[in-house]
Amino acid sequence: MNYEEMTDKSNIPTHIAIIMDGNGRWAKKRLMPRSVGHKAGADMLKRIVRKCNDMGVKYLTVYAFSTENWKRPDEEVSLLMGLIVTYLQKEVKEMNENNVRIGAIGDIEKLPKKAYDELKKAMEITKDNTGVVFSLALNYGFRDDLSHAIKNMMKENIDIEKIDDETAKKYLYTSYMPDPDLIIRTGGEIRLSNFMLYEASYSEFYFCDTLWPEFDEEQLCKAIYEYQQRDRRFGNVK
Ligand code: IPE
Ligand code: IPE
Ligand code: MG
Repeated sequence: MNYEEMTDKSNIPTHIAIIMDGNGRWAKKRLMPRSVGHKAGADMLKRIVRKCNDMGVKYLTVYAFSTENWKRPDEEVSLLMGLIVTYLQKEVKEMNENNVRIGAIGDIEKLPKKAYDELKKAMEITKDNTGVVFSLALNYGFRDDLSHAIKNMMKENIDIEKIDDETAKKYLYTSYMPDPDLIIRTGGEIRLSNFMLYEASYSEFYFCDTLWPEFDEEQLCKAIYEYQQRDRRFGNVK
């Protein structure tokens, strides 16, 4: 039996979030430049989006570029920004045909104009789709989201007494999605790297050594299968 067959199709996580890590190491292992790893990662992402949509996952959010990733050498940053453009140009048509809705979290206005425009276009084209909501976290970091949310709350002069979890959530980039049920990080590191620190309060975590370009459909099913074995109590007793 494989994990695909072992997963309980009636208990698929509503929201899966993925920290796609390990592209650089995947390329290094093959004595190739990091750029080749990022391209291979984009190819795998395409397959994972399709699989999630087919399995009935309602929200898929992927960490594609963090607020800290600007620290990387200029040529790697440019390569990644260019890859976002080509990925969207190549894939949006098919995603649209498959009813995928594209979204984004993060301070996307600070992306290079071409990437920003392509992203906006993809969101507009797919806005009425009812399949998986596939969000790219771009120039995203939770700490930045927190200050952005506080600024907007203050601008709107909202009543301090009314600030609770629900109001706070409305001001975060993630306001349009439920909290992730399952957070996957590939590439072997056991950390969140500033990803959804608030939304992850009761998420189940799945860390694996598999490098992102090798994280295929069967690996995804393995993560979902492991998630299904967990006992989620949310602070209650069984
Ligand atoms: C993840 O792969 C992709 C991004 C952060 C954009 P990395 O580029 O971090 O790959 P490693 O961690 O160096 O292997
Ligand atoms: C996290 O990976 C960000 C993305 C996957 C986009 P990094 O490779 O940037 O994280 P660190 O530096 O290992 O924490
Ligand atoms: Mg990394």
